[in-house]
Amino acid sequence: MLAKNLKIFDTEAVQNFLTLLSGLEQEGGNPRTKQIIHRIVSDLFKTIDDLDITSDEYWAAVAYLNELGSNHEAGLLSPGLGFDHFLDMRMDAADEALGIDNPTPRTIEGPLYVAGAPESKGYARMDDGTDPNGHTLILHGTIYSADGQPMPNAKVEIWHADTRGFYSHFDPTGRQQPFNMRRTIFTDDQGQYRVQTILPSGYGCPPEGPTQQLLNQLGRHGNRPAHIHYFVTADGHRKLTTQINVAGDPYTYDDFAYATREGLVVDAIEHTDEATIKAHGVDGPFAEMVFDITLSPLVDGVDNQVVDRPRLQA
Ligand code: DHB
Ligand code: FE
Repeated sequence: MLAKNLKIFDTEAVQNFLTLLSGLEQEGGNPRTKQIIHRIVSDLFKTIDDLDITSDEYWAAVAYLNELGSNHEAGLLSPGLGFDHFLDMRMDAADEALGIDNPTPRTIEGPLYVAGAPESKGYARMDDGTDPNGHTLILHGTIYSADGQPMPNAKVEIWHADTRGFYSHFDPTGRQQPFNMRRTIFTDDQGQYRVQTILPSGYGCPPEGPTQQLLNQLGRHGNRPAHIHYFVTADGHRKLTTQINVAGDPYTYDDFAYATREGLVVDAIEHTDEATIKAHGVDGPFAEMVFDITLSPLVDGVDNQVVDRPRLQA
């Protein structure tokens, strides 16, 4: 057991060691990587020193990282520890500095997007009709340009969970077909999109997984409110990454991933009268959600905030 309050971080030996291990004096390699590693390892060395992190605590953390990776949960822990929302806050601040308004707020992508969903014009049926608890949802809206005009042919990518909170391609029961509740709709001549699907349920982190284990240590839950993800892409505009929350969910303002934002909480209006049911071409009572989206313009001709992250392609 080391003596408490032993502080060595600021010694010349430790500082030289950090320079050495970061390759800062080596030819070759990547200067940006060297800079980042030097900073992160320095911050962690300092944390160990300041908090008198024990060897047992340190090696528990190493084992934890291995478990996180082997469970493919790094992308789940990231929003849980607020990194995804922090990156959004930085993009918001950058926009504010440039005087850019985002009438429809961005919010986190989450780790569960899959590229390659079926495409259609104007309308799509998103669910395969097999969810025994599925309650029909008609979700529609208009995509507007930054100057307020409806935008035909905007690309609207939508994905969401089933009534158990499971996403296709990530369903631990393997029950869902590929691309169930994942569609790409190009807006019609009026700039409108419309889908028939089912109301999703909230999402919970895998209860036995490493993300939930850490959340337990923090006294936090790992639940998200019912939500529906969007990417919207259109000529002359920045790609928008956002989500809507179904109003009234108990976790709407208690989301473990911190994605809820004003302007993104949408009522699900229940319809039970025969005429409305018939007019919407559905076979029984259904919920309706309306979500219009206004995009932000390119900055000096480019999307200055496009996020290029590794994504599953199926
Ligand atoms: C997580 C899951 C989601 O469905 C989401 O939108 C964001 C984060 C997660 O598991 O961390
Ligand atoms: Fe999600």
